[in-house]
Amino acid sequence: MSLSVGLAAFLLATSRVQAVTNPELSVQGCDQLTCPSSARNDSICSANNIGVGIASNAVNVSKADTTLTLTLVDGYPIGIYQTFPYVNFTTRSLYLGAPSNADLKAQAPGCALLMQYDQATFPYSDMKTLPDSFFQNTTSCPTSLTEGDTMQSLASVIQQFRYSNSSLLRCEALSAFVQYTLNHQNSTLGAFSAPLISVTGGAVSGPDVATSPAKIIDSVAGTTSSSCKPVKPSDYDLYDVASATQILRDEPMSQNLTYGGRDGFTPVVSVMYADDDDTNPDVAVLCMHLYNGEGQLLPFSTINEPTGGATTVKVAGWGTIFTSVLVGVWTLL
Ligand SMILES: *[C@@H]1O[C@H](CO)[C@@H](O)[C@H](O)[C@H]1NC(C)=O
Ligand SMILES: *[C@@H]1O[C@H](CO)[C@@H](O)[C@H](O)[C@H]1NC(C)=O
Ligand SMILES: *[C@@H]1O[C@H](CO)[C@@H](O)[C@H](O)[C@H]1NC(C)=O
Ligand SMILES: *[C@@H]1O[C@H](CO)[C@@H](O)[C@H](O)[C@H]1NC(C)=O
Ligand SMILES: *[C@@H]1O[C@H](CO)[C@@H](O)[C@H](O)[C@H]1NC(C)=O
Ligand SMILES: *[C@@H]1O[C@H](CO)[C@@H](O)[C@H](O)[C@H]1NC(C)=O
Ligand SMILES: *[C@@H]1O[C@H](CO)[C@@H](O)[C@H](O)[C@H]1NC(C)=O
Repeated sequence: MSLSVGLAAFLLATSRVQAVTNPELSVQGCDQLTCPSSARNDSICSANNIGVGIASNAVNVSKADTTLTLTLVDGYPIGIYQTFPYVNFTTRSLYLGAPSNADLKAQAPGCALLMQYDQATFPYSDMKTLPDSFFQNTTSCPTSLTEGDTMQSLASVIQQFRYSNSSLLRCEALSAFVQYTLNHQNSTLGAFSAPLISVTGGAVSGPDVATSPAKIIDSVAGTTSSSCKPVKPSDYDLYDVASATQILRDEPMSQNLTYGGRDGFTPVVSVMYADDDDTNPDVAVLCMHLYNGEGQLLPFSTINEPTGGATTVKVAGWGTIFTSVLVGVWTLL
């Protein structure tokens, strides 16, 4: 009797652990856009200290029969050197690309969560697998986040969440829940220290989704409406999803095991519910690495490159490999 109850409980528990995916989608930068150069010069794509990554087909809204794009931007709208309080930072902002006629508000709720590590990107702690995992142009996550049952642990935290009437919107509440649970439940998530993880999220479908295009991203000056939006397909509009402050730390000017600066990867987790009461959402993790408008690495931990271009960036301990890959990147340009 108690055995069968135990078995039933076990089956119930395991049946709730759903597959989490890490789709391998291409991440493209501004250099892959087809805008005319005049329009491009007028857009955020012209700034070499702003990073952009565009992942098409990143969110599937099955009922609307449409696939949406996620665009992640670093350094816009804010990148600032501050003298007081003594902290330099940029913003890492997530946008949703959707056809202007997609009625996303009428769809079931969906969220995208932007994850940070020590208030910056996740460092490539499995650097031994360089160069493949370091220069990510796809959404595949490094083994530091996929090893063992890491992805399933993350998905099971997301599945524990129940939304109840609250002063927070659903995706805000989900983000707070996931961050709190990760920070307090286990000491690690994959190769990472769980208490250092923070989560910020917003709606990609459902009642809370933004309905006015994020005009601010059209132009650095904010005055003209550039026709060069960092989105593919190019006729999609961009909508705000979430934005998080990214702290620029002084030293060392390279990745280490706890700080990825602007040049590690950002896990973006899509959580798509079937309806308001669904407790078993589809979860997909996309790991995104950003490049500047010329397809080069961002400055590691400053807004502008400190001296003369990306080649001055060093990776402690892996300098040789890093430099040779950079040479490879240079020759491609
Ligand atoms: C990523 O870059 C590698 C090496 O440059 C290239 O072979 C591969 O086709 C690229 N993948 C995508 C999805 O763009
Ligand atoms: C765009 O900027 C590039 C680099 O600054 C410059 O070479 C090019 O002439 C500009 N194009 C237009 C149309 O302004
Ligand atoms: C969305 O659907 C496309 C096409 O079927 C697929 O390639 C992509 O991986 C899906 N995206 C996610 C996040 O599952
Ligand atoms: C915490 O660790 C346990 C045991 O390894 C695992 O079953 C659980 O999924 C983990 N939870 C998180 C949030 O990593
Ligand atoms: C949520 O709470 C507010 C304020 O307490 C109340 O006005 C509203 O009807 C509640 N909504 C639901 C769906 O319970
Ligand atoms: C902020 O950036 C400036 C300019 O690079 C630098 O001189 C200063 O040391 C930085 N401050 C902090 C706290 O990182
Ligand atoms: C990594 O770099 C950050 C920023 O410079 C620093 O605060 C931290 O102590 C470093 N961690 C290690 C393990 O070296």
